[in-house]
Amino acid sequence: MGCRGRKVVTSFVAKVRKEYELIIANAENASGGLGLNAKNAWELKKAGIDILTSGNHIWKFKDIIKVLETEEWILRPLNYPLAPGRGFTFFSLPQGGEILVINLQGRTFMEAIDCPFLGVDRLLEELNFKGPVIVDFHAEATSEKVAMGYFLAGRVSGVLGTHTHVQTNDCRILDGFTAYISDVGMCGPVESVLGMEKGIIIERFLSKRPQKFDLAKGKAKVCGLSLTIDRLTGRCEDIAFCNWEEENDSC
Ligand SMILES: [Fe+2]
Repeated sequence: MGCRGRKVVTSFVAKVRKEYELIIANAENASGGLGLNAKNAWELKKAGIDILTSGNHIWKFKDIIKVLETEEWILRPLNYPLAPGRGFTFFSLPQGGEILVINLQGRTFMEAIDCPFLGVDRLLEELNFKGPVIVDFHAEATSEKVAMGYFLAGRVSGVLGTHTHVQTNDCRILDGFTAYISDVGMCGPVESVLGMEKGIIIERFLSKRPQKFDLAKGKAKVCGLSLTIDRLTGRCEDIAFCNWEEENDSC
């Protein structure tokens, strides 16, 4: 995300807010392209996003801890051991009923935190919630993401991958019930390498020396998904890309 991402998301949410009962965004890199500070978390919430999920970079700014501890609309991955904040939340849908949102993090090529499979399995059993459930699975390996999709197929409304920034072309409904995509994609500058200035990243690959990253400039894009879910059974009836590119640079 970064500044360009926050701006494009804010404009997009203002346009579509009335069409959706719930808007979820993974905001772990909304501040400077890496991490999320308290000010930007509140900014996104006030822009109309209902639930902010996160991932491995959520710990970068210290002032986010208080927000994680006190606010129900922001999540850190459920399977972090001994972490402040919460890994799931219930949201009251404006047109009736509740939805459960869960944030998980993968372990393949990532920090060896608690098992996301056993963690979500235990949580679902404990809560025994019969309504819609959305899982943001923040993970690196597509194998782990696909496996989680099938692990939860028929039990949750959606398993939506995040973290790798590039939107994948595999969104589908598993077992006629569960929306799945390996990665929802990034909201941020189009002409970039995962939101960063492309020349610097190329230089890093060429030289193999650390470089100071800069956020990319230029037009930004929202990558998202739109789900239609039966509020009583939790079954996903439709999944579609919901992408939007701004006409002018705004940051
Ligand atoms: Fe991440």
